[in-house]
Amino acid sequence: MKVDGRHIRSIWLDADGHTVSAIDQRRLPHHFVVAQLATCEAAAEAIRSMLVRGAPLIGATAAYGMALAMRADASDASLDRAYKALIVTRPTAINLKWALEEMRSLLRPLPASDRAGAAYSRAAEIAEDDIVINRGIGGHGVALIEAIAAKKKPGERVNVLTHCNAGWLATVDWGTATAPIYLAHDAGHPIHVWVDETRPRNQGASLTAWELGHHGVPHTVIPDNTGGHLMQHGMVDLVIVGTDRVTANGDVCNKIGTYLKALAAYDNGVPFYVALPSPTIDFSGADGIREIPIEQRGAEEVATMTGQTADGRIETVRIVPEGSPVANYAFDVTPARLVTGLITERGVLRADRASLAAAFPERIAAAAE
Ligand code: MRU
Repeated sequence: MKVDGRHIRSIWLDADGHTVSAIDQRRLPHHFVVAQLATCEAAAEAIRSMLVRGAPLIGATAAYGMALAMRADASDASLDRAYKALIVTRPTAINLKWALEEMRSLLRPLPASDRAGAAYSRAAEIAEDDIVINRGIGGHGVALIEAIAAKKKPGERVNVLTHCNAGWLATVDWGTATAPIYLAHDAGHPIHVWVDETRPRNQGASLTAWELGHHGVPHTVIPDNTGGHLMQHGMVDLVIVGTDRVTANGDVCNKIGTYLKALAAYDNGVPFYVALPSPTIDFSGADGIREIPIEQRGAEEVATMTGQTADGRIETVRIVPEGSPVANYAFDVTPARLVTGLITERGVLRADRASLAAAFPERIAAAAE
């Protein structure tokens, strides 16, 4: 998508053919900084520190991390080391494991001399595929928005609520939850997005709002607790969120607070959609609530807030009394029964095993091997 009128992706390969560049998302929205990742260790640290974040982008970065490792040393030992270093960076987004398995199963049988080239090609393919997939999600999702728009008076806006950042920054381009929004906006449908701020790291306030602003999509940032009130007053037509992992039975793991939005949507008869690329489906999982590992992050993310002062300095201030313990669960699971539909590259599916299996038979077969 565009930043200051210039098309840019969240991650790309530099002209030297081996260094990986990525937007440093920790610096947004106040500073646009590009980071160079020249080693597998740098790629792993970028994922761990959330320089890059969002399930599909984590997967693409990990794939490039394997390529960087193969460039430095293409031995079996290096392959294993790279896999181990990358897999532990973030526990919840299944795209990380998916991408690493793709890379390992491709590289393992190859002679060492062929591994670096093959790794860079496959990593580039994973990144390109993500763009195509998200465009596909957009095409299916925009039909949902158009159906709602068709029931409104001419010019009346469609209000979408979203949580966290499932935008182009969280993917390679387009985003998952935002792809239908960008397409609807570009097609001239009046659309407005309620952006949950998404404490504690504020991916909504700092990233989704920044993205939408640069693309000219009307939006309003709201405190996380506001969605239920808006839904009770008919101010939300549909919810579209992203996800870090969907189990085969249709349970959806996403940024903490998603479950509460799903409950409020259910209570108010507001459609609750989840946009996801197929690498986010974990066909080996059957029960999201019991099986998905939920990342617990550092206390400082909850106990402090970081922002820009009036004179332009970035400062972090403490908002919790010294000594008060805090908890920082990064994700929660929304049970399939609360999900109206899963917007995938192969269409809008019911959130259940039969629908997912029918749409992705090859993935079911691979999971059974
Ligand atoms: O902790 P984050 O910022 O990596 O969490 C991101 C999310 O929860 C996104 O909604 C999810 O990865 C979907 S991204 C298309």
